[in-house]
Amino acid sequence: KPVIFSGMQPSSDSLHLGNYIGALSQWTRMQEDYDAFFCVVNLHAITVPQDPKDLAERTRATAAQYIAAGIDPAKSTLFVQSQVPAHAELAWVLNTLTGFGEASRMTQFKDKSQRYGSDTASVGLFTYPILMAADILLYQANAVPVGEDQRQHVELTRDLATRFNSRFGDTFVVPEAQIQQGTAKIYDLQDPTSKMSKSAETEAGLIKVLDPANVTKKKIMRAVTDDDATIRFDRAEKPGVSNLLTIFSVLTGRPVASIEDEFAGRGYGDLKKGLVEVVEETFAPVRTRTEELLADRAELDRLLASAAERANEVAGRTLSRVYDAIGLIR
Ligand code: TYM
Repeated sequence: KPVIFSGMQPSSDSLHLGNYIGALSQWTRMQEDYDAFFCVVNLHAITVPQDPKDLAERTRATAAQYIAAGIDPAKSTLFVQSQVPAHAELAWVLNTLTGFGEASRMTQFKDKSQRYGSDTASVGLFTYPILMAADILLYQANAVPVGEDQRQHVELTRDLATRFNSRFGDTFVVPEAQIQQGTAKIYDLQDPTSKMSKSAETEAGLIKVLDPANVTKKKIMRAVTDDDATIRFDRAEKPGVSNLLTIFSVLTGRPVASIEDEFAGRGYGDLKKGLVEVVEETFAPVRTRTEELLADRAELDRLLASAAERANEVAGRTLSRVYDAIGLIR
């Protein structure tokens, strides 16, 4: 079976709709046909300041949401990054193969370091994409299902794999980003030209998987639209309405055109009310299941530990080949 690898940062109590649509819903479909590795990337999370207690909680909560949304720990290897030391070890090796200029061109670093200021932005934040390359390459992943914002990082991963292979001999599979057309970027409900993100200035446009129904309802009903009053998909002219239509379409599995038809001649309020229902239908069971999973920590930790064992085996094999190829004696 071909291999996929993907991950999310445990940097919030709850995943958001962008994570769910851009990544998680793809993962659950793909796990049937691939040898799938899904990681909670807590080493990535600490590239910006984290409260230790929150980080531990959020790591479990993220894993629980993967399972609640449909990742089956019996089919997929769902593990926590820090429980597999090879990630940090391979990242070091790849650091030595990455050009300073090359790393400097990563746009996500530029955005984030601007937010924190160059004195407080850590070196870890700078080398973040290199750790991500290590994640992917350790499992010899063929495909990396992610949202649009991760494309550049997967490109860097490909460059590093190719460079390593040509310098030290064939060692890594060169992975492809798998980015779903049309849903790879879900936009903020208050600012529908910016991507939905946990680091947005306000949470008013951020739909969280674990938020109570009334909170989500309020956010959707207040979503920014336009004053043209026709329900029609047009990304350039009608970004707000188009974003609502996209979300509606992905969560119901219906084409956008069928939703346009259903709401033809009706107001934005109706579309929003419809969407409130669709989102609630999708997230209510995920919330319930997440709570159940978090109520039995010991069991969740056991699941994660046993997945980490498998991950350690696969990753350890790749790391051995890397060390041998480079001449690092063990
Ligand atoms: P993270 O935690 O920021 O986001 C997790 C996943 O959600 C996707 N995503 C979105 N998709 C559509 N619309 C949005 N508004 C939106 N916001 C987020 C992201 O593209 C991502 O797929 N660097 C990664 C984590 C990572 C990783 C990896 C991913 C570390 N190692 C190896 C793949 C493979 C990140 O910060 O994702």
